[in-house]
Amino acid sequence: MNSAIVSLKPEISADDFDAEKIRADFPILKLKIDGKPLVYLDNAASSQMPQQVIDRLVRYQTTQHANINRAVHYLSEVATMEYHNARCKLQQFVNAREDREIIFTSGTTDSINLVMHGYGRKFIKAGDEIILTTLEHHSNIVPWQMLANEKGAKIRVVPINDKGELEVDEYEKLFNERTKFVGLIHVSNALGTINPIKHMIDFAHQHGIPVLIDGAQAAQHIIIDVQALDCDFYAFSAHKLCGPTGVGILQPFKGGGDMIASVTFEETLYNTIPHKFEAGTPPIAAAIGFGAAVDYLAAIGIERIAAYELSLLNYATERLNDIPGVKIIGTAAEKTAVISFTIDGIHPHDIGTILNQDGVAVRTGHHCAQPVMQHFNVPATSRASFAFYNKKTEVDALVAGIKNVQKVFL
Ligand SMILES: Cc1ncc(COP(=O)(O)O)c(C=O)c1O
Repeated sequence: MNSAIVSLKPEISADDFDAEKIRADFPILKLKIDGKPLVYLDNAASSQMPQQVIDRLVRYQTTQHANINRAVHYLSEVATMEYHNARCKLQQFVNAREDREIIFTSGTTDSINLVMHGYGRKFIKAGDEIILTTLEHHSNIVPWQMLANEKGAKIRVVPINDKGELEVDEYEKLFNERTKFVGLIHVSNALGTINPIKHMIDFAHQHGIPVLIDGAQAAQHIIIDVQALDCDFYAFSAHKLCGPTGVGILQPFKGGGDMIASVTFEETLYNTIPHKFEAGTPPIAAAIGFGAAVDYLAAIGIERIAAYELSLLNYATERLNDIPGVKIIGTAAEKTAVISFTIDGIHPHDIGTILNQDGVAVRTGHHCAQPVMQHFNVPATSRASFAFYNKKTEVDALVAGIKNVQKVFL
């Protein structure tokens, strides 16, 4: 057993979690790939959608669809109300103070870019420093690099240890009078490490520095309370929370309506949040589906999901550690159910290809987290990422698949 793995919520047991019953909600899980049952272990990339969310999308498209905020006819009023209801569901889900703090974007990447353009370009100047971490997804690196290049600012990077945990002492040492912004990943997509963001946010605030949290890998596994976290920006995408693609949120720190209040050729008066940042026709259907997805997750209970996923993580860690030649990359004390691994002598892409022939879907590559790969001195890993609808027999299928890969290549 990997001693690094601890219980996230010891008081909540995984014992009464009926994954089999939950699986019945997900039509796609009944698929067979080349005659083999689908074992879907690529949930960190995108999770699957339950019938409840699919039904909500169908109901919207078949009985409620129109453009919003513009017309006085029945359908437009219904669509406007349902879109607003979705915002309120997201507000509750992250415990934001007001519904207008929920800005619908096209996803995490879009949210981060919005902060870079809206906040960064106004407040970051030549010589300023932006703190990021080695664990960041490229989505939370590239926009800041673009800004730094444009402005003549500098990126400072928090290192990680060999378990894949952030070196928080080093983070604290990076602060100085030039520090102007911190961008932090809540949970590493490549390794599953859960970062001590509360402490890191508090520390930045003691220095008067705003913090953006990339929550793309967190909100489906951890209860998010943006008021308790007191972060300045929190971002995540619906498609990793059993919702549709093409929508996400940005929760900014201040309540501030359509982007434009009035336009004449002389001047444009900008509206208040969230509308100011939701120019044009937003992803209405996707946002409503997002609302249904967070309802679905909340009904099961994020803490119960976390406890069950932890039991899967512990089981999978034990089983993979037992296979000679398999090395787990990322053994942080606090992890979500993500296992990145390498197999001696076999390229991750070959691993992914052979596993696919057994119906097992894992992600192989650098996971858009190349600084993490560089730290561990590997070009790529194979990544099994579990959701609450996965089961131990699927871990067994992964293990059998890995042994088969070794048979084919070694
Ligand atoms: C940690 C993290 N940040 C950002 C993203 C980008 O999310 P999206 O592609 O939905 O914008 C991902 C997606 O894998 C991620 O895992």
